[in-house]
Amino acid sequence: MPDNQTPAGIESVLQENRVFPPPKAFAQAAHIKSLAQYKKLYQESVKAPDKFWAKQAKAELVWFKPWKKVLQWREPFAQWFVGGQLNVSYNCLDRHLGTPTANQAALIWEGEPAAPGKPGEERTLTYKQLHHEVCRFANVLKRNGVKKGDRVLIYLPMVPEAAMAMLACARIGAVHSVVFGGFSAQSVADRIQDCQARLVVTADGGYRRGAIVPLKQNVDEALTLKGPDGQLLARSIEKVIVVRRAQNEVSMQAGRDVWWHEEMAQVSADCPAEKMDSEAPLFILYTSGSTGKPKGILHTTAGYLLYVRMTSRLVFDLRPEDIYWCTADVGWVTGHSYVVYGPLANGATSLMYEGAPNDPEPDRFWRIIAKYGVTILYTAPTAIRAFMKWGVEWPRKHDLSSLRLLGTVGEPINPEAWMWYHKHIGGKRCPIVDTWWQTETGGIMITPLPGATPTKPGSATLPFFGIVPEVVDDRGRVVPRNSGGKLVVRKPWPSMLRGLWGDPERYKSVYWTEVPHSYFTGDGCRQDKDGYFWIVGRIDDVLNVAGHRIGTAEVESALVSHQQVAEAAVVGRPDDLKGQALVAFVTLKSGVNADGALRDALRQHVAREIGPVAKPDDIRFAEALPKTRSGKIMRRLLKQIAAGTEIKGDTTTLEDLNVLARLAGTEE
Ligand code: WT7
Repeated sequence: MPDNQTPAGIESVLQENRVFPPPKAFAQAAHIKSLAQYKKLYQESVKAPDKFWAKQAKAELVWFKPWKKVLQWREPFAQWFVGGQLNVSYNCLDRHLGTPTANQAALIWEGEPAAPGKPGEERTLTYKQLHHEVCRFANVLKRNGVKKGDRVLIYLPMVPEAAMAMLACARIGAVHSVVFGGFSAQSVADRIQDCQARLVVTADGGYRRGAIVPLKQNVDEALTLKGPDGQLLARSIEKVIVVRRAQNEVSMQAGRDVWWHEEMAQVSADCPAEKMDSEAPLFILYTSGSTGKPKGILHTTAGYLLYVRMTSRLVFDLRPEDIYWCTADVGWVTGHSYVVYGPLANGATSLMYEGAPNDPEPDRFWRIIAKYGVTILYTAPTAIRAFMKWGVEWPRKHDLSSLRLLGTVGEPINPEAWMWYHKHIGGKRCPIVDTWWQTETGGIMITPLPGATPTKPGSATLPFFGIVPEVVDDRGRVVPRNSGGKLVVRKPWPSMLRGLWGDPERYKSVYWTEVPHSYFTGDGCRQDKDGYFWIVGRIDDVLNVAGHRIGTAEVESALVSHQQVAEAAVVGRPDDLKGQALVAFVTLKSGVNADGALRDALRQHVAREIGPVAKPDDIRFAEALPKTRSGKIMRRLLKQIAAGTEIKGDTTTLEDLNVLARLAGTEE
């Protein structure tokens, strides 16, 4: 029998045996109240998907024009709610006006900088106020030449203006592409070039642990970078709108650069929402793949909105009185779906925090929870492991009794971290939803429903409505329970990516060729005897470093672009805090000295090329890399060397056996 008592301190029992049923009182009040109710609805959703989704779309969204067809599926291209018209910004804002929600907080923002004992800035926007600001900024976009279908690049810190800019784009039918503020000028330029953006929204600077990230300066640099053809990469950009945030000095180019606040003073707050087709592009978000070039994941209007609204409400059991906090940056998909669109479509209160979890001290999160009475916290396992390391005294200093639900996302959560979260943050009373999904899936796919699903530490549990995930072998056959395989999704779902921007062939080859007639996730997985899904991690050449997906090929190509580097191979090694750490094996051009200064220079180089998130944790210089006779780098061996484990397995295909000995010898 499952041990659902789990008194404190029993962390050594067999993990698979621990089961935590939803607390009774929680289940009684929840939107979905029992496993039986979940199962019944789930069956309906997969047996008659068109009927199920039609019913949901009608009940959940406000339409300008009803759709004609629920799903048009020409594998691998889906169109949902064909013929319908609606607007995402209308569904997140206007629909709440004239209801009690209008005067409720839509966004609560806690800003930087803060010092010990001195709290950060604070700002609250009600639905009415947010609507007003979004309408004005939508007019600013129009005034600066942005039209329906144009792409707008958003490169901002975690400030309310980021959400306003996204919603303003949605309002006028422009397509946004948010680039995380931690990315470099080069990444900004590459993304502008790929999506041919017309305008950039940025800030003078963003605060990060007391320092200022020079965002505007990065944009200036991005606009001067040239491609291999000698042409400016970002020549599609006509205007740059700059939010005054960090007050750092910036240069403004006349005719191109304008200030957000000056523009806002010029416009009215009257801006009707455009009628958008169900399949109109809503945003492009770039994410790493297993080749050097980031993929522009495309999401569209109706299916995405429906799915994020439903998952927000049911997975987080959202209700009007909640203070809901998802700690993700808007630069990632989690910020899109579960800071901005999902919560606002539900009329919920979404908290945004600008800074880092340990700034100014390791209790900043707990301070914020106590200050605002946060009821739902959604964060990443890597953060939880950092909290564990910093010590339980930090959360203990604060009253966390307002919390009623916890969530995690981004990587597998190790049962030890799950138990710590449960005990020290959730006070053993809060259900934990471990939510599996991807930039590509748009919304949460495998997850407990907190009032219905018994949870097991480390498992994302069961699929959401309408989702048909399976664990399969190389030929696409379902593997027996408890054996590992590839995680695929068999049926289209409303918030699935519609493609890669401008590259339908790559979309097909990356996601739809690995396993016949299935969406391939790139993750390894196992289903237990109860059908629960246990994600094992990535099986392609993509690493998960502190919850961020990083393509090893991307880091390799950044390293090789350095003058002194001949060859590079990047692999992951297990890391207590980050899940995985990046280890680079580098060979140098002849005559170059391998020293600490070069190591630092290479790390800086990667930060410049991609962004600080991709900096290798460890760079090892080598005379040669282990290769097969056909010249393929043997990553399997490098992984073992990086992890410091004994080299096992077949080495007979290795061209030069001495390479291995030398590589192992170069370890520090
Ligand atoms: C990859 C997607 C989805 C928002 C954040 C990351 C891993 C995500 C979980 C989880 C185990 C997880 C997978 C997935 N992942 N959530 N709950 N348990 N692994 O989005 O950057 O697109 O990364 O993150 O490997 O494929 P992303």
